Amino acid sequence: MREIVIAGNWKMYKGLNEVLEFCAEIRAQLKGKELCGVLPILAPAYPFLAIMMKELEGTGVQIAAQNVSNHNEGAYTGEVSSAMLASLSIPYCIVGHSERRAYHSESDEIIREKIMALLTEEIKPILCIGENLDQRNKGETQRVIMEQLEGCLRNVTLYSPSDMMIAYEPIWAIGTGRTASGEQAQEVHRMIRKWLAIRYTDELADGIKILYGGSVKPENLERLLKMPDLDGGLIGGASLKADKYLKMIEIALDQVAGRNS
Ligand code: 13P
Repeated sequence: MREIVIAGNWKMYKGLNEVLEFCAEIRAQLKGKELCGVLPILAPAYPFLAIMMKELEGTGVQIAAQNVSNHNEGAYTGEVSSAMLASLSIPYCIVGHSERRAYHSESDEIIREKIMALLTEEIKPILCIGENLDQRNKGETQRVIMEQLEGCLRNVTLYSPSDMMIAYEPIWAIGTGRTASGEQAQEVHRMIRKWLAIRYTDELADGIKILYGGSVKPENLERLLKMPDLDGGLIGGASLKADKYLKMIEIALDQVAGRNS
């Protein structure tokens, strides 16, 4: 059975004091707690990666970067390489977020290069894909998703389902309060899994974790997690508050307990 992932993408929010306060709350609630079948992840801004690795040791929360350079090293002022992330033992990195595609002109090819750079360092990419509202209204969702998968994963070898995750994030649902229905998300998640089975293997397609992102919060997580191909959330706004983030971990634990009973 695939684990349920509760991944918080903090985007460009929180300074040092807020980061430390959040970590203290997480430590108080999660240190030593069994998180059977649930994988919590947090993606802070670069300056806090190493601090959070240390602060959250022993809580089960894994740390992700929000971005990485497509270059290995060199004169690229302001960039951070996959080797640098690896030197901090960062296990995950978000790539291809729609905000980076929109505001930093990231193409599928650049995202593909980033995925290659991360896999070389054995960092697991969390690849974001998703259509905008216009594309959905025109019935182009499937075409857009397939094109993004083809473009971002061209010649990318995956050996195991745990090598990467995919996050379906419909752009119209990000930060808008408008969540996809469970059925809308399920339809796309199923499509992604089918594409993976054709492009890779049934085993890889069955095992890879596919997250949903877009206005996920404690109030709608339970119904989303009921969808058979939905393995968790990539959560922006609602992951910034420790109580909400912890609540979402509880909901995921309940879901796992329900499956096992
Ligand atoms: P919100 O949960 O704030 O809609 O953001 C989703 C997102 O972009 C996560 O990567």
